[in-house]
Amino acid sequence: MIPSDLFSASKKYSTLEDVLNAIKGMKDDPLANAGTNIVISRGNPSAKLLLIGEAPGPQENIQGKPFVGPAGQLLDKILRAGNFDPDQDVYITNSVFRMPPGDDGKSFRKPNDQEIEYYRPFVFEIIRLIAPYVILLTGNVACQSVLKRTGITTLRGQWIRVEGHWLMPIFHPSYLLRNQSREPGSPKAMMWDDIREVRRKYDEMLTGSSPA
Ligand code: URA
Repeated sequence: MIPSDLFSASKKYSTLEDVLNAIKGMKDDPLANAGTNIVISRGNPSAKLLLIGEAPGPQENIQGKPFVGPAGQLLDKILRAGNFDPDQDVYITNSVFRMPPGDDGKSFRKPNDQEIEYYRPFVFEIIRLIAPYVILLTGNVACQSVLKRTGITTLRGQWIRVEGHWLMPIFHPSYLLRNQSREPGSPKAMMWDDIREVRRKYDEMLTGSSPA
């Protein structure tokens, strides 16, 4: 059961700038000593579509912006296929704000449960302060962060209503990079269906014709 005040329970910061500054100032986060940079967001803070990813990868760690590597290029393509301008229509952030380094200290790994937990309150504050109509959760880490649930194959493509927002889990673009088939029923084909549905819901919300 998702609490009805999921995103507004804490209300710690007054403005988006305050929460971004708090993230930039983090010293006690579990990845503080990882040797990687803080990467928070890109896009338009006034956007009505918010997208939440997993964690920065190597390109993002260097450039300081989320989704600027190969997965990001595919993500922008998917957004454009839904007729969204990635710079104007979308605000893009992650569930974890530093790249988790791999065992060799160079490569990277998925964020663990403790890391996802730690950054969650910041993610919720970003959601509350952006106040988007539609939130896309890309992959299992974003679902774990926001919904405390995983199982993207089952969750994807379905709307979840939380505090006046419409949330949809979708596949992570990195997963699509590993599954290139466009056959009907393939992850890529499903993503194309999902972005069309996102466009429909977004337009419905924008024109105020939503029944809910
Ligand atoms: N994958 C993500 O989930 N986020 C990024 O910023 C880059 C790759």
